[in-house]
Amino acid sequence: MRISILGSAAGGGFPQWNCNCRNCAGVRGGSLSASARTQSSIFVRDDTGADGILFNASPDILEQIRGRAALQPARQVRDTAIAGVVLVDGQLDHATGLLMLRERGSPLPVWCTPAVAEDLGSGYPVFEVLRHYCGVEHHAIPLDGASFEIPGVAGLSLRALTVPGKAAPYSPHREQGAPGDNIALTISERGRRVSAFYAPGLMAITPAIFDAMANADAVLVDGTFWTDDEMIAQGLSTHTARDMGHLALSGPGGMIEWLARLPAHTRRYLIHINNTNPILDADSPQSASLAQAGIALCEDGMEIVL
Ligand code: MLT
Ligand code: MN
Ligand code: ZN
Repeated sequence: MRISILGSAAGGGFPQWNCNCRNCAGVRGGSLSASARTQSSIFVRDDTGADGILFNASPDILEQIRGRAALQPARQVRDTAIAGVVLVDGQLDHATGLLMLRERGSPLPVWCTPAVAEDLGSGYPVFEVLRHYCGVEHHAIPLDGASFEIPGVAGLSLRALTVPGKAAPYSPHREQGAPGDNIALTISERGRRVSAFYAPGLMAITPAIFDAMANADAVLVDGTFWTDDEMIAQGLSTHTARDMGHLALSGPGGMIEWLARLPAHTRRYLIHINNTNPILDADSPQSASLAQAGIALCEDGMEIVL
């Protein structure tokens, strides 16, 4: 299977339009050894077909498609390689791109959990709005561990796992939390026994999550923040990483420690990086420590072939 990293940044992208933090100012001015990043999304195909699955539809989706011939196979006058969209949550950075796909000639096939469908029908009524354009063909993602597939991409099989996290800030249940607000996905290629684990947002690693990570050939996991108080320390927010539904990378119980426990052959990637995160600076000690730990940072345009 081929995983195309369309967008490797968290909400806001990098640099963020209104931000002059060290990273944003540095990449804008060219003094930082870092690349700009669009918002969180990946596209995955099996080895046979042209069509694939879009995981999350970022506000930057049009720019992400424009730069990639593989997403526009041009077999007819209106065409796309996106056979369906799978959402891991209802956050703006993952759902806003659905609106950009409204020119389709048929309803947009979207897989999400019932909790996310509820949010996208009410708190942020993207599904309602799209009814006046192409419409949405909504499919519920099974939360019992059953595998499911996306028609048109028969070579890939998906399995969802609910993960601790947060519903989007606009969600009526932001503070209560519903199962299915946030999921991780295992993407497997039929017949070849290769799989990837994808979790751009998660707040804690449970035994079931660690198991799913350890069974994958590659993991693409939440790399949003280096420390839990990153936004507070930079004077940019009053919220911790955990308040926002993200497990920080460093420190005891952080993502880096969990990644170190995976089997030696597991390929480890961080994705959904916030613009404040020091790992965006290739010359930072934090970047050096990732390299030492065998952890790669996803970049826009990166292709992971399994
Ligand atoms: C998050 O995952 O916390 C988001 O990136 C927030 C956002 O989209 O603004
Ligand atoms: Mn996000
Ligand atoms: Zn910034």
